This record gives sequence, C-alpha cells and structure tokens, in this order.
Amino acid sequence: MSTEPSAPLTAQSIFNLDGLFSNPVFAGGIGLAGLGAAAAFGRKAVIGGAGLLRRQMLVNVEIGKRDPSYGWVLQWLAQPRDNSGFLARRVTRLRNLAVTTNTRAITPGHGAGTGEASTHADFRVQPGYGRHIIRHRPGVYIAVHREKASSTNTSTGEPHETLTLTLLWAHREVLGEVFTEAHALAHRFHEGKTVVYSAKRMEWVPLGKPRLKRPLGSVILDEGVKERIVGDVKEFLAAQQWYTDRGVPYRRGYLLYGPPGTGKTSFIQALAGELDYSVAMINLSEVGITDDLLAHLLTQLPEKSILLLEDVDAAFANRRQRDSDGYSGPTVTFSGLLNALDGLAAGEDRIAFLTTNHIDRLDPALIRPGRVDMMVRIGEATRFQAAEMWDRYYGDIDKDKSGRARFLNRLDELELFGQNKEAPRYTSTAAIQGLFQFNKDDVEGAIKMAEGLIPRTFEPELPGGSIKSPA
Ligand SMILES: Nc1ncnc2c1ncn2[C@@H]1O[C@H](COP(=O)(O)OP(=O)(O)O)[C@@H](O)[C@H]1O
Ligand SMILES: [Mg+2]
Repeated sequence: MSTEPSAPLTAQSIFNLDGLFSNPVFAGGIGLAGLGAAAAFGRKAVIGGAGLLRRQMLVNVEIGKRDPSYGWVLQWLAQPRDNSGFLARRVTRLRNLAVTTNTRAITPGHGAGTGEASTHADFRVQPGYGRHIIRHRPGVYIAVHREKASSTNTSTGEPHETLTLTLLWAHREVLGEVFTEAHALAHRFHEGKTVVYSAKRMEWVPLGKPRLKRPLGSVILDEGVKERIVGDVKEFLAAQQWYTDRGVPYRRGYLLYGPPGTGKTSFIQALAGELDYSVAMINLSEVGITDDLLAHLLTQLPEKSILLLEDVDAAFANRRQRDSDGYSGPTVTFSGLLNALDGLAAGEDRIAFLTTNHIDRLDPALIRPGRVDMMVRIGEATRFQAAEMWDRYYGDIDKDKSGRARFLNRLDELELFGQNKEAPRYTSTAAIQGLFQFNKDDVEGAIKMAEGLIPRTFEPELPGGSIKSPA
C-alpha cells in the first residue's frame, strides 16, 4: 500500500518545493547544497546558493536491496525526527510512505498460562519509492532516492531495488553515523527475538516477523542431551582461531534424528536464540529446492545464522529414484547435499543442523567430519522428560509434587515408556505438550486424560539397531 499525503505546502510557500523535488538534479543534490546554505544564511539564499554549488561536492551512496543494510537504513529513515526548524518543517517529509503489514497467528506459546490463538497485525511504515529529504540534524539534510530499477535480477526475475543517499561532501562523515545508528536500531528491533529465514525463490527472506526467543529451558530433551549439544556448539564457536590457524574450514554439522514431534526443530530455534543467531531454514523435501538453488543459497547465508536443513532423507530418496528411472524431480540429490555441506558451494563459516525422521534412509557418507560431526537421537518421551514438562506446566500449583507422582504412575500403568518388551509403546513430547495445554492449570484433568497419550496407530517394529541407540 502506498499513499501520497496531501501536499503539506500552502500558497505562502516561498517557492514551489514540490516542483523542485520532482527535478532529479535538485532533489538529488544541488537542492541539498542550497538547503545547507539556506540553513546558514536564511531562506532568501536558497536559490542563489543552489547555483553556486557543484555536483562534485556531493556524496552519493547507493545501497542494493541485497545488502543487509538496505532494510536497516529504510527502517532508520522512517524514524520520527525533529523537524521543528523553519526550513526543516517545509522541506523534510517522507513524500510517499509504504506500509508493510505483517499478520501472524498468535499460537499458544510454550509454557503454561498462554492465551488463546488470535491474530496480531503489525504495521511498519517505510519510505516508499521516490525521492525524499530528511533532516538528520540542524543544517544537515540527506536526500533519499528509493528506486525500483527497470532491469531485473536474472536469477529471480525480481526487479533490482536501490536506495541512494546523497549528502554534501562537507557532511560526508555523517554517513558513518547513519549506518551505525541504523544498525543499532535494527539490533534493538531484534533484541530478544529470533529471525527465521526461509528460501523464497532464490533469496533468503525472513519468515514472518522475528519471533520472541524461545527459552532453551522450554525444550525438554532427555537427561543431559541438551547440555551435550549446547556445550559442543559453544566450544566450536569459541574455537574459530584454532580453525583459522590450521586452515581448516570453520564448519560444524549436527544431525538430529528421531520420530516427529520430539522437539528437534524447536530445540534448534531455541539454541539459535540462546546464541543470538538467526535460523536459515530449508526443507529438502520441498519441491523446487534443487541442487543449484541449494548451492546458491549457501553462498549467501544470512550473517550469524544457523543453517537448518530439514528432512535430509529427501535427498536420498531422490538418489534411489534416479537410480531406477534415470530422472529425479526438481529436488535435491545426494551429491547436491554433500556439495552443500563440504563442497565448493559450502560457505566458509557455518553451523549446520540436519534433521530427519528416517535415519535408516541416510547414507553413511554423510557422517564425516565437516559434514556431520555429531549425531544425536531425539526420541520418544522418557520418564525424565515427562516429569520435567510437568514441572514447567504445573510446578507452581503442584507444589508438593503429588500430582506429578500420580501422573507418572499413570503413564507407567499405561506402559508408555516401553515397559512392555513384547509390544513396546511410547508417547511423544508433542503429545504431552498437547495434553498439558488442553488442561491448563488443571492437574486432575491432565491425569484423567493421560490415556490420550497412547499413540493411536502402532508403528511397525523399528528397523535395525541403530535407531534404538541411546541419544
Ligand atoms: N522435547 C520437547 N520439549 C518441549 N516441547 C516440545 C518437545 N517436543 C515437542 N514439543 C512441542 O511439540 C511441537 C512439535 O515440536 P517440533 O520441534 O516441531 O518437533 P520435531 O521437529 O521433532 O518434529 C512444538 O510445538 C513443540 O513445542
Ligand atoms: Mg521438525
């Protein structure tokens, strides 16, 4: 949506500023010089001052849409600023505003006591396309030109977009301030949040609004598992110099496997939050994610992000498919995945997390230092996890833990921790979460409904010993 505000200038204006600003030479620079002079010598000097100054006295900075600072600077430009001076009141305004609306469903969060699902809309105002002038501080004006170029990005088909800032040469040092302020602003905006990027066409785009960081404590893995992974990642992050000194690519890979609904994805998001990283996520089972696309995306991973490759087994299914009929659809192949992990396409520095629900479909070649350095099974809910989750949801009302004891006894009765060796059955942490959310603050309800944790369909015997290895 783009709106043109009604012209704020009246007949009393000393001259028609609108006309001047639509003149690219004026708006792009000479006008600025005039404004600087006007600020110093008074309004009558505007036109005369403009004529005295030359283009060489201006600094132009062009920022492409691909550059991370593009978004920061746009946001910074939309900040309210003091335009109280005579000139500032008349010349500075964002002449077109573009509104970006993000709506998202607020799903009940993690932990007890969260509200019902609803929708939240968030509006952000940014300078629209066209020319704008802002007053950075008294006497210092910046001309802004946001432009959608007619040429398009050959790989994505999207038009190029640029933002050009123009300042007087004498004010060039202000540029440093602009970028520093814009960066700090973006950082404040993201503080306490985790940005999740996903691949849209050929680019990484934030998936919705940055989400509130998920506390690591809200993901309950089996005893010690979380600590082991978090410890390893932190050790890796602290060891960059070691890798640099030895010329070893600074990369580490983790494979989390196990049935769905066990907290693999949630854990990776929480870990990113803990490290103050974002998540760059690709689902390999998605159609359209080809080897080329994957390689391309890896060359431009967002800064400070964890690469998350979900459903990596998809790459192996393709290989089988290709072996049999010589063709694989527009999806990732095994060699494409390996290339992404440690071939030429692999970025210099990165942490990758791979997930799969089907470890038996993977090829051992994947498990090699630099590709996957650590493999962890995230499995069905254990007694330990059930107890921990209980404490998170009912800890404050079940003070003497008698409710917890009865709940765990009930799960024992239902043989939900694989007690029956003939026909072992388990429940998932996702199912426990569902039960607890349904019975908010209702200890008795949760115990009464525990039977609902019995999996509805019985899966066939798990193949092979590997999948049952302890995490
Ligand atoms: N171990 C766990 N601790 C906390 N929440 C969990 C856990 N496992 C699953 N959940 C919840 O269940 C849902 C699905 O979890 P998810 O992380 O997507 O599982 P996976 O990626 O293993 O399939 C999420 O809402 C998550 O909060
Ligand atoms: Mg998942």
